[in-house]
Amino acid sequence: MIGKIIGTGSCVPARVIDNNEMATIVETSDEWIKERTGIRSRCISESETTTSMAVEAAKKALEDAKINAKDIDMIIVSTLTANSAMPTTAALVQKEIGATKACCFDLNSACSGFIFGYNTAIAYINAGIYNNILVVGSECLSNIVDWTDRRSCILFGDGAGAAVVSSKYGGNNQVAGYSDGAKGSALTCAGIKDKNVDASEHHQFIEMDGQEVFKFAVRRVPEIINEVVSKAGLELKDVAMYVLHQANYRIIESVAKRLGEDIEKFPTNMQKYGNTSSASIPILLDELNRAGKLKCGDKIVMAGFGGGLSWGAAVLEW
Ligand code: UT7
Repeated sequence: MIGKIIGTGSCVPARVIDNNEMATIVETSDEWIKERTGIRSRCISESETTTSMAVEAAKKALEDAKINAKDIDMIIVSTLTANSAMPTTAALVQKEIGATKACCFDLNSACSGFIFGYNTAIAYINAGIYNNILVVGSECLSNIVDWTDRRSCILFGDGAGAAVVSSKYGGNNQVAGYSDGAKGSALTCAGIKDKNVDASEHHQFIEMDGQEVFKFAVRRVPEIINEVVSKAGLELKDVAMYVLHQANYRIIESVAKRLGEDIEKFPTNMQKYGNTSSASIPILLDELNRAGKLKCGDKIVMAGFGGGLSWGAAVLEW
């Protein structure tokens, strides 16, 4: 399938909270967090919002792609922390960047959201409907984190990442995505309160069965990576880099081991940002791109997993 990422951008809040500061909020320690997750710090919004970070990341991606906002046909924003149900975050991004021609919508598939957004962009491009699609993942998880729950609040951070996908260039793309709603209770957060639900029953914060999600991830992610790589007619040895959702370093180590791949092929940045849900993959992609670590023609695998439960992957040529 055709389509290529021609530009990336990202934005994280200025305020950094390291593990030692987390230990002043809940009963935890730098040692525990580092050992169990790899995370050392996270960026937490003060003035930044899901929308403002999405706009900033989008502007940088357009600049990097050297494309005019008026040439963007579609904007997809993946988020589970939109500032408003309507207008959508994508429509607000459109307004700020001046992408007047674009069809805009938000999608939410938690931590798989950026991959599902990218896969949707590839589908539109290969159907011949659109040429240039801006895909953004933006999250302000600090708004939905239970800051008294040490099992979850130490994991998450805020941020946004964006990519421009274009039909102009070829590429050996393959995509896949799955959901398992029957296991959805492992990772939840209530949305708008139903009028019939008692306030005490409305779980407005993230609740997670960490071990269940861990087991799910280390099983499903290698499976789906093997699927997309083989659909692309490639072998794992052909893959230059695996850009995975940044939830936990131990998950990434386990995925690498199960695939029999060198951990060096799995760049990480959860050390600095924690788990930023649908923003984690495009933030990492942007860092790698700006550091010149992605070479033209490299085969890259992206894979996300999380709430739903859901998981998705894509193979692309840089
Ligand atoms: O984006 C996708 C969504 N999320 C994920 O991918 C998360 C997947 N899961 C994980 O990353 C891990 O399960 C966690 C990092 C969340 C937890 O690690 P774990 O090794 O599964 O720890 P645990 O929940 O089994 O807890 C072990 C112990 C418990 O103490 P006891 O019962 O053994 O005495 C916890 O109470 O660690 C305790 N604990 C903590 N201690 C210090 C839990 N959280 C903390 C903490 N600081 N922050």
